[in-house]
Amino acid sequence: MKVYRLLHPRPALILVAGDGKINAMTLAWHMPVEEEKVAIAVDRENYTYELIERSKEFTLNILSIDWLDAIWKAGTLSGRRVDKIGKIGLELEDGVKIGTPHVRDCLGYLECRVFDEVKLEEHSVFLSKVVHAWADDRFFRDVWLENAKIPMHVGKNLFTTPSKYVKP
Ligand SMILES: Cc1cc2nc3c(=O)[nH]c(=O)nc-3n(C[C@H](O)[C@H](O)[C@H](O)COP(=O)(O)O)c2cc1C
Repeated sequence: MKVYRLLHPRPALILVAGDGKINAMTLAWHMPVEEEKVAIAVDRENYTYELIERSKEFTLNILSIDWLDAIWKAGTLSGRRVDKIGKIGLELEDGVKIGTPHVRDCLGYLECRVFDEVKLEEHSVFLSKVVHAWADDRFFRDVWLENAKIPMHVGKNLFTTPSKYVKP
C-alpha cells in the first residue's frame, strides 16, 4: 500500500524555482509549520531540487483547476529535458521580495526563502520562511472562498476540488 495516499487529497501547487533558467514543478507535499513558515518535500532526483539548492528560494503558486493540464505536465515532465514554462504556457511575473518569479494567473502565491534542509532517503524537506504572499480577493477573503476551485491531488492521475463548505 502507498501509505502516503491515505493523507491525500492534498492541494496540488506549482513550485517555481531557478535563477537564470526558471523551472516549474507540481508539488503536493507541503505544509505550514509556523504561521509564516512552510515545509516542502522535494525528491532529490528532480531538477527542481538542484535549483532550490542553488538559489535557496522558490515560490508556491496556487492555480485553479482550469490549469489542470499545466499542473499535470509540470508534475510529469522534467525541466532537465524540456523548457516547461514555455511548453505549459505559464506566464511569470517578477518577485516582490525574492529573485524567483511567480505565476501571473495564479489565485495566490507565497515567496519562500529556505533556512534549513532535512535530508531523508529520497526527499529533502526544505524549511522555509514566507517573506511575501498575495491572494486574489475574488477568491480569498481570510479563507479560500468556495469559488476558488483549488485542485486537490487524490493519487495517480486523479484530482478533485473542494465542493460545498460545511460548518461544525
Ligand atoms: C499532483 C502531483 C504532485 C506531486 N508532488 C510532488 C511533491 O510533493 N514532491 C516532489 O518531489 N515531487 C512531486 N511530484 C512529482 C514532480 O512534480 C515530478 O517528478 C516533476 O517531473 C519534477 O520536475 P523537475 O525534474 O523539472 O523538477 C508531483 C507530481 C504530481 C503530478
